[in-house]
Amino acid sequence: MVPVRSGLRPPPDRLRRRLNQALTPQRKVRLSINIRKEKPSDAQSIYDITVAAFLEAPHTDHTEQFIVKALRESGALSISIVAENEGNIVGHVALSPVTISDNEDSWYGLGPISVLPNNQNKGIGSKLMNAAIQELKSIKAKGCVLLGDPNYYHRFGFKPSEGLILPDVPTEYFQALSLQGEIPQGIVTYHESFSAKG
Ligand SMILES: CC(C)(COP(=O)(O)OP(=O)(O)OC[C@H]1O[C@@H](n2cnc3c(N)ncnc32)[C@H](O)[C@@H]1OP(=O)(O)O)[C@@H](O)C(=O)NCCC(=O)NCCS
Repeated sequence: MVPVRSGLRPPPDRLRRRLNQALTPQRKVRLSINIRKEKPSDAQSIYDITVAAFLEAPHTDHTEQFIVKALRESGALSISIVAENEGNIVGHVALSPVTISDNEDSWYGLGPISVLPNNQNKGIGSKLMNAAIQELKSIKAKGCVLLGDPNYYHRFGFKPSEGLILPDVPTEYFQALSLQGEIPQGIVTYHESFSAKG
């Protein structure tokens, strides 16, 4: 125990933590992430990480794992990409076709996207997003929509588009990215697997 000299009080815990952080050189852990398409044997891991990622997420009814499974079983999981760290799946993104009421085709919905909680904020979600966009380009998709926090998806080029509507959601959360031509106008409908409950 270091004696406390009169007039010098030990800093409160919060301040001590901040001081330690400021004085300790930050060691950036460099993860070696492998991004690849899903294999049949990945299905259970994808289910598990989807459950874990959404466990504490806001605005969810915790059905995302059922959605991915139903999309796969109905042949509507157009793109399914995983992120691996040392052979373990730590992230996943799903893309499926959407329909638009103006009959525009080749548009896709991105999501669910999941990163295991203890692997979040390390750039894995960004790698999955960029890989998903690349893959959409390679299948000549015209564009992609998603529902999510604009603060995150804006950095990948997604933004709300007047006239492209997902009913019953706040307009700023429904965002689109065009990969070819104009963003269509109309009502967007996700695949029926999005109502899967088990
Ligand atoms: C959303 C998610 C996939 C992002 O993955 P990630 O690996 O943590 O993301 P990255 O490391 O590439 O990016 C981190 C950045 O995104 C921000 N971010 C992460 N999740 C966010 C969210 N839901 N809303 C807004 N910003 C978010 C972080 O604050 C951080 O910002 P910074 O770069 O300015 O510091 C991940 O947080 C997740 O699985 N969340 C739970 C499930 C979910 O909500 N999915 C999205 C709805 S489909």
